[in-house]
Amino acid sequence: MCGIAGYIGKQQAAPIILDGLSRLEYRGYDSAGVAVYDGERIHMEKAQGRLRVLEELTQHGATMPGFCGIGHTRWATHGSPSDTNAHPHMNESNSIAVVHNGIIENYAQLKQRLLNKGYHFASETDTEVLVHMLTEYYNGDPVEAIEKVMHRVEGSYALGIMFLDHPHHIYAARKDSPLIVGESSDGKFIASDVPAILQYTRTVYYMENEEIACLSTEHTRFFNVDGEPIQKTPVTIDWDIHAAEKGGFEHFMLKEIHEQPKAIKDTISPRIKDGDIDLSEIGMSDEELLSFHKITIVACGSAYHSGVTGRYVLEDLARIPTEADLASEFRYRNPIYDAGTLVIVVSQSGETADSLAALRDAKAHGCKVLAIVNVVGSSIAREADAVLYTWAGPEIAVATTKAYSCQIAAFYLLALKFARLRSTITPERFQTLLDALSCLPGQVESLLAQKEKIQFFANHYLATEHIFFIGRGIDYALCLEASLKLKEISYIHSEAYAAGELKHGTISLMENGTLVIAVATQDALYPKTVSNIVEVKTRGAFVMAVTTLQHPEMEKCADYVLYVPKTAAPFMDSLAIVPLQLFAYYVSLGRGLDVDKPRNLAKSVTVE
Ligand code: F6R
Repeated sequence: MCGIAGYIGKQQAAPIILDGLSRLEYRGYDSAGVAVYDGERIHMEKAQGRLRVLEELTQHGATMPGFCGIGHTRWATHGSPSDTNAHPHMNESNSIAVVHNGIIENYAQLKQRLLNKGYHFASETDTEVLVHMLTEYYNGDPVEAIEKVMHRVEGSYALGIMFLDHPHHIYAARKDSPLIVGESSDGKFIASDVPAILQYTRTVYYMENEEIACLSTEHTRFFNVDGEPIQKTPVTIDWDIHAAEKGGFEHFMLKEIHEQPKAIKDTISPRIKDGDIDLSEIGMSDEELLSFHKITIVACGSAYHSGVTGRYVLEDLARIPTEADLASEFRYRNPIYDAGTLVIVVSQSGETADSLAALRDAKAHGCKVLAIVNVVGSSIAREADAVLYTWAGPEIAVATTKAYSCQIAAFYLLALKFARLRSTITPERFQTLLDALSCLPGQVESLLAQKEKIQFFANHYLATEHIFFIGRGIDYALCLEASLKLKEISYIHSEAYAAGELKHGTISLMENGTLVIAVATQDALYPKTVSNIVEVKTRGAFVMAVTTLQHPEMEKCADYVLYVPKTAAPFMDSLAIVPLQLFAYYVSLGRGLDVDKPRNLAKSVTVE
């Protein structure tokens, strides 16, 4: 989604803003722009395409003098990607400039009203209504004008605003789209996310919904939506700056795949204490956890896939009825809530609009919400009743890998916790599973050594058009994720099927050479999946199987086999996903695609 960066201080603003925008590139965008007060006017430059086009146009900001400015990378919603639709947007007198992340839902009515009043629209964006409304309401006091606009617009927004009348100030406002304010001895910053400002400061204010900020070199002031001053306390970000850099890897995705052993360890280890699972930090007591008789998991994309794995593992180990639903469906299907349901919202970014809306709906119906979130201080983390953080660290590649792995690890912790509390497994089995959990990081590490073998196989399938992933039980949950990983970064059409479902229709698509990736890690289901492999092979498919080292006989049945070590059956997804992440990576690399920033995708989906 769109990225915002702004700076006011002692340094030239444009290079700092462009640098900030480059660190937000992972969010996904199709055009970029910067506006800087140059001592006389608000000087604006915008360009469709990659940020480097704007960097070349402005000689990396050198052609834009001035110490105060705002910038934006746009992910098109209203109006196609173009120079004109790129942000910032300015009013007709070039005295107000606005950058916006989010969607103004009532923009059509607002636009009509403004057109009737004689305002002219230069772009097709919803953002431009904000510019004209600010112009209409501005009477010398920027905060008052922003406040009035906020009272009239519906939808989501993070805004960076400049007024020519107040050239040494940046204004910001937010509702349902992330925005932070940073402070250093050198200047003040606004940004959509921490990596944009991490090399300048670690002192950050998280803006809450319906707050306004006013930044000058001397002050950082905050107001509520009624223009009343409010006090906010900054937090210190303790991320390692190198966490947001590639560290010698060709791509963030490859780096993040390699960071999985550490990320899983950081997520699991602090929660295993004295032979037990200790979740006391999450903010829900054992009594409260015991009171739930049902779990509903809600999330989007890969986070949803982690929830599908979570459903299998929770039901298997803790015998608690669990459902997993897509947040965009859940929120509109009039779900049945009751007080005994625990709603678990899973999100890497903690800002996904549909997941956040589902969380709010569940809370409004009196349900307790537990969030599994990676970004500390994000909206979902702040609004949930309890939070189980995944300690994956910053994830920059658009396609998630290490955050997904930490999400499924978080579900293992929860399943074991519930199983222990509900006495659904014996103490011996609990201990065996705990030991297996502790071994996962080392086993994931060992899998990374298979890289060359996977790259070799991937290189043979660069031109393929369709790929099918099949599996049963948690292998099916894993197939959903493996298929998404492949399609999002390789642009190859792929589908995930429960292996037993193929013969109900999909098998008609099998023809000579169709690539089927079959996952068979569950001993209890192994013979069934083998039968499904035979069925597709009979129809001409070429099968690559992923199974455990205990099943060398798979080579008689599949055409190519990738082996993974064995762990306890409910935890197999953590191991089997690694070669399939690498497969997706190498197919994308081999096809010469932008692995970290696939087309049309955004890292943090803050609009519906
Ligand atoms: C795919 C991917 C997305 C996200 C989804 C939810 O690789 O990353 O499918 O999982 O957009 O995002 P979060 O987890 O931030 O809520």
